[in-house]
Amino acid sequence: MYLLGIETSCDETAAAVISETGDAARPWAIASTVVASQNAIHREWGGVVPELASRQHVRDICGVTEQALAGAGTTLDDIGAIAVTQGPGLVGSLLVGVSFAKALAWSRGLPVVPVHHLAGHIESLTLAHGELPMPAAVLVVSGGHTSLYLVPSPGDYRLIGRTRDDAAGEAYDKVAKLLGLGYPGGPAIDRLARQGRDRAVEFPSTRLTHADRNAPADTSRGLLPPDVARRVDFSFSGLKTAVLRYVRDAQAHGGGLPEPLVADIAASFQRVVVEALLDRTFEAARWLNARSIGIAGGVSANSRLRAEAEERGRRYGLPVFVPPLSLSTDNAAMIGAAGFRRLRAGRTGDWDFNAEASLRLNVEG
Ligand code: KG4
Ligand code: ZN
Repeated sequence: MYLLGIETSCDETAAAVISETGDAARPWAIASTVVASQNAIHREWGGVVPELASRQHVRDICGVTEQALAGAGTTLDDIGAIAVTQGPGLVGSLLVGVSFAKALAWSRGLPVVPVHHLAGHIESLTLAHGELPMPAAVLVVSGGHTSLYLVPSPGDYRLIGRTRDDAAGEAYDKVAKLLGLGYPGGPAIDRLARQGRDRAVEFPSTRLTHADRNAPADTSRGLLPPDVARRVDFSFSGLKTAVLRYVRDAQAHGGGLPEPLVADIAASFQRVVVEALLDRTFEAARWLNARSIGIAGGVSANSRLRAEAEERGRRYGLPVFVPPLSLSTDNAAMIGAAGFRRLRAGRTGDWDFNAEASLRLNVEG
């Protein structure tokens, strides 16, 4: 059976056709995947403009879906279910995908499956590598999220840590803007950092020692001792402010920023981010007796994060899984995979589900 996946949570309009393989160890295959990026539109504004994003989704959604169907050599007659990102994300953007998917499913008499965007990122790992050795500790790190999940068994996602302020990708994007590197900032800093010295500037790494008074109700309690639970939360706003101060000081002294200095700042910033991400992920994995580590989401495209994660994995004897670059940033293939997971668990949507900007994920609901 084929399933059509739709993703419009932020600034990519995406559709994909996914098939089932019949192999429980590697359950799904990508028949086609199409992503229409809006980067060129938002670059001009230095970040995603929600109203422009939703309007562009309206323009692109039909064509992107037609292209995905054609790319798989399928028509709507071959599709058995439709999965769509319900949230979290920009509500206007989400609404385009949700309305489109529901209308299409209704008109064809097909089941529609609402999918949590982060379940999609987690399942990008299964899509690429097959079922991970479980329990798995999975870090989802993107422009909107930095969250650590324990996946004790397939389709069961338990939130164990999250950022208290900015997401790592958001920090990349803001620092890149500050350095005049454009949007999105992650790839630009990644590239430039290769020419810089990663200890040229000593930026602080925030360690949280206080309890999270605003912990979302869905955080899994009791999986980690309280002091470890605090330690595996993330914080990136202090680092971002430190870079801002450093750049202002440098500019006050010498006008512009010479390119070698920009590369040093990029490399030094990136070292702190990557260490913060991996220290917590590996610490949580150790406490949870995880048998594997997964890293997904846009920032998992980062070359230093990938290289260091693999190096640490070898050192600790833990296999580390990252998606191929095409599946690390937002796409609909991962939404199709998570949709298949829910469909086969008998969890299709009631017709009245709606787009939810701050949808929570804990034990896939
Ligand atoms: O998963 P994604 O496409 O969208 C969200 O769900 O947020 O992630 C986009 C984020 C952006 O912040 C972008 O700067 C970051 O992923 N990113 C990277 C790299 N490629 C994309 N960050 C660091 N290094 C990269 N190579
Ligand atoms: Zn994403």
